[in-house]
Amino acid sequence: ADIPVICIDGPTASGKGTLAAALAERLGYHVLDSGALYRVLALAAQRAGLATDEAALLDPEVAQRLGAMAAALPVRFDGGHLWLDDGDVTQAVRAEAVGMAASRISALPAVRTGLLALQRRFRRLPGLVADGRDMGTVVFPDAPLKVFLTASAATRARRRHEQLRARGENAMIDSLLADIEARDARDRSRAVAPLAMAEDALPLDNSDQSIEESVQTVLGWWQQRR
Ligand code: C5P
Repeated sequence: ADIPVICIDGPTASGKGTLAAALAERLGYHVLDSGALYRVLALAAQRAGLATDEAALLDPEVAQRLGAMAAALPVRFDGGHLWLDDGDVTQAVRAEAVGMAASRISALPAVRTGLLALQRRFRRLPGLVADGRDMGTVVFPDAPLKVFLTASAATRARRRHEQLRARGENAMIDSLLADIEARDARDRSRAVAPLAMAEDALPLDNSDQSIEESVQTVLGWWQQRR
């Protein structure tokens, strides 16, 4: 627990991943994109022929199987790439449909428990920047710095739109906004590890901030806290 962790939690498309990567680079720390783990699991389920629609997830057997898959997920981060077994899934996990499936399966307690040990293994020297929904509340509750990152819904939809377009995916901004809001509502209302600001987290709204401004804000907090 002496290994420093900075937690960046917040809603979908608030810029957590970008901020976490920039901070990790600046500090020479490791980085954990916890959302990628839920996405990889969703992809693994899909490839195993397991349905992940809401009705299927009500079946305790499906939930149990997903929990077992989570606990033994053959995932690897390597040089900016993400691997499931021997396949490079860096691009595949970013699809909007995979994000939605990840959001559905992430509400299952068995899945969250299954991924816990894996996430904690990322805490290695010299330190870790972890981004997600429950980094500060559940996974690393003793972290010395927790940031709750938000941005307006319009800003988030615009950023997600730009991300998708850069990858050649087409999407309507209105439907992205609806998806983002549906995902946030589900993340906030689930019984286990809901998206919520930790009591000791510092809020940061980056709607009108550049990435560099957000990085400087958090680095300033880090100097005071550690
Ligand atoms: O952050 P990202 O969009 O990649 O996460 C995909 C989904 O995984 C989220 O919508 C959320 O439901 C879930 N998630 C989670 N807990 C985390 C990270 C992601 O429940 N720590």
